[in-house]
Amino acid sequence: MYSDADILSLLMSRRQGYSLPQAFYTDEDVFQADMKNIWHKEWVFAVPSAELPKSGNYVTLQIGDYSVVVVRGSDGAIRAFHNSCRHRGSRICSAARGSAPKLVCPYHQWTYELDGSLLWARDMGPEFNPKHHGLKTVHCIDVSGMIFICLADTAPDTADLEKQASRYLGPHDLTNLKVAHQSSIIEKGNWKLVLENNRECYHCSGSHPSLCRTFPDDPNLFGGDDSNTTNEARQHISRCENAGLPSRYVISENEQWRFVRIPILGDAVSYTMDGKPAVSRRTGTIPFDHAGSCLFFHYPNTWNHFLSDHVLMFRVLPIGPMEAEVTTFWLVHKDANEGVDYDLNRLTEVWINTNNEDRQIIEENQRGIRSPAYEPGPYSPVQESGVIQFVEWYARALETGLLGRFRVAAE
Ligand code: FES
Ligand SMILES: [Fe+2]
Repeated sequence: MYSDADILSLLMSRRQGYSLPQAFYTDEDVFQADMKNIWHKEWVFAVPSAELPKSGNYVTLQIGDYSVVVVRGSDGAIRAFHNSCRHRGSRICSAARGSAPKLVCPYHQWTYELDGSLLWARDMGPEFNPKHHGLKTVHCIDVSGMIFICLADTAPDTADLEKQASRYLGPHDLTNLKVAHQSSIIEKGNWKLVLENNRECYHCSGSHPSLCRTFPDDPNLFGGDDSNTTNEARQHISRCENAGLPSRYVISENEQWRFVRIPILGDAVSYTMDGKPAVSRRTGTIPFDHAGSCLFFHYPNTWNHFLSDHVLMFRVLPIGPMEAEVTTFWLVHKDANEGVDYDLNRLTEVWINTNNEDRQIIEENQRGIRSPAYEPGPYSPVQESGVIQFVEWYARALETGLLGRFRVAAE
């Protein structure tokens, strides 16, 4: 059993530049601390807005104990609600996704409008006021076509994120894309192992034969330090910026999110087995095929690739201390026709392979960490600076949350 004080002291005594102590990857109490202090406080990526193209389209998400429904209203706005009926609490929507003109609770059919207001409840007596029984709202924002939700009472400020997202993602015009395919896989690993694995390509050459055909594993392409960046990356960034595509590395003050547009290998223009485009229609106003890949991560749960011909969004949701769900969305121009403008297998092949390879890596990582013989090991300063950056963000976020709780308890 780890108390908040135990977790804080374990966090403070960890060795920087090293992987975390075992409990951070295996323990239920630490997992609950992650949920409370990070997942229930920060903005979490839910879905691309293109996943909810019509009024009544909804998705449900489970974030710890919270069930959330995200739905497009008849006014076109996307909102999020606690998926818990205001009668006796039943979950209202049980499917992962669906479409409904109203949200009807399956238990006693209380019926809610898509804006969360209670429309109808049978035989509740003359005193009952439906206005007091609307669905509870969850913060929800549309960041240039990516829907984020936040379970905190007061959500963190997003002005800077929204400003930079509109610069970097605007040219890909996500509102005019459609979800061509999505996949959800369960990985038997702690959510931080999924993020750590994403933040380095030290493992790529040994594990990702399909991805390595087009994706560069040179860590100097990704960093913010101009002196370390390669000539190729600098030239790519200038060429794209001159063509009106914001591309330079930008990171938020608290290092929670970052945008950068990197070149991909040689003549490749997309993540396909032959490097040629997967889709014959480009996204948005991207002026040429050789736009590389605009990378966007936002902790704790998403990383994304914006290519000239398609967009890949990844969402991680924790399930337990040693289990997470990873969902991938492949988006293409909404007017692109499958079988004519793109072949679904060709579009998805590289990342279906890569996701599966990463799942195996993460599950082996988790199994090894469970051993009593595990001790934190050193990250490569050359190859794993992204992992160090993620772990430091995590440690600061958890520490801030835990200290805040002690402060509240002391008052
Ligand atoms: S619990 Fe929803 S209608 Fe009764
Ligand atoms: Fe990987």
